[in-house]
Amino acid sequence: MGTEELADRLFTAGVATIELSCVYLGIRLGYYHTLACTGGGLTADELAKHTGTAPRYTHEWLQSQAISGFVTIDGDDPATARYALADGASDVLVEVTGPAYLGGLAHAAAAIGGVLPDLADAYRTGDGLPYARYGADAVTAQAALNRPAYVNSLAAEWLPQVPDVVDRLAGGARVADYGCGAGWSSIELARAYPDVRVDGFDNDEASIATARRNAAEQGVADRIDFEVADLTGGTGAVGRYDVVFFFECVHDFPRPVEVLRNARTAVRPGGTVIVMDERAAETFTAPGDPVERFLGGVSALWCLPQGLVGADPQPVGTLMRPAAMAALAADAGFAASEILPIEHPFFRFYRLVP
Ligand SMILES: C[S@@+](CC[C@H](N)C(=O)[O-])C[C@H]1O[C@@H](n2cnc3c(N)ncnc32)[C@H](O)[C@@H]1O
Repeated sequence: MGTEELADRLFTAGVATIELSCVYLGIRLGYYHTLACTGGGLTADELAKHTGTAPRYTHEWLQSQAISGFVTIDGDDPATARYALADGASDVLVEVTGPAYLGGLAHAAAAIGGVLPDLADAYRTGDGLPYARYGADAVTAQAALNRPAYVNSLAAEWLPQVPDVVDRLAGGARVADYGCGAGWSSIELARAYPDVRVDGFDNDEASIATARRNAAEQGVADRIDFEVADLTGGTGAVGRYDVVFFFECVHDFPRPVEVLRNARTAVRPGGTVIVMDERAAETFTAPGDPVERFLGGVSALWCLPQGLVGADPQPVGTLMRPAAMAALAADAGFAASEILPIEHPFFRFYRLVP
């Protein structure tokens, strides 16, 4: 790469990290939301008043946002000028269910930043770092990153590629959502298929508490049951489910083969298991493209540490390649596994045949 190119790359990364941290404040303090609600723009004092924040800080934040181009500025003096969201900023920073929403990245950066000293220790000892240690921002990040795809694509684009699964869901299937996190996949399944019943499981208590709240707010709590469960030991279900879904979690499990084996037991005869996991490159390539760089870094900072929790962990990490998924399915006793014809820049979909 060479000294100059690497230095440029790191400087750009530094700018991006600082901007992401400012974005975190903008979301957390309601700055973006407030600017979006007041179309004519606001001065720093007005935005501070609307959000219950300190004017001097708000002024500095707005000035930095204008320099970054995330807000527009009307006036020559940053202290008295009027600020408004730049074109497209509402889609990316405010509309939490829109396909372009990326606010979750700021929460993820905050969660990772908070555990970096713990990660350095873990890298020395080899111990795992439980998801709960990443704090509330981790749950918020995970939910925010995937919810737009579930709202916009799960029932409208992805599932129609597996018509037999759609038929089951439309016919009132009993469904499990393993590793459900804050529950948005379960909720969108329940919203799209009015006769479906979903059991969502996750071993993170904060995620399950959030999932229950989310389901109640979305009016589907009567058809979804969220439970805290370590899926390594299974859910105790035998032949209960028509479909078991794994949304972006198999690569996280410390003992993925056991979890998949339990899922195989939990489906009814003729039932099916659908896995959505990362669309890592088919083979290791270095240097990699931006998606691969993102997945590699996330693995080192987020997924692998969480997967190294507990006895004799054997996590895959975020770079889930198709061959790794096929090997897990075979080790778990599935008769076959196939890649489904669902296109997505970040996710690959598999059907595991019991
Ligand atoms: C990357 S998140 C995906 C969450 C959710 N499916 C989504 O799409 O937002 C992985 C989830 O797997 C859960 N998880 C990891 N290990 C687990 C285990 N042994 N048992 C149950 N859940 C586990 C984590 O708590 C986390 O919520």
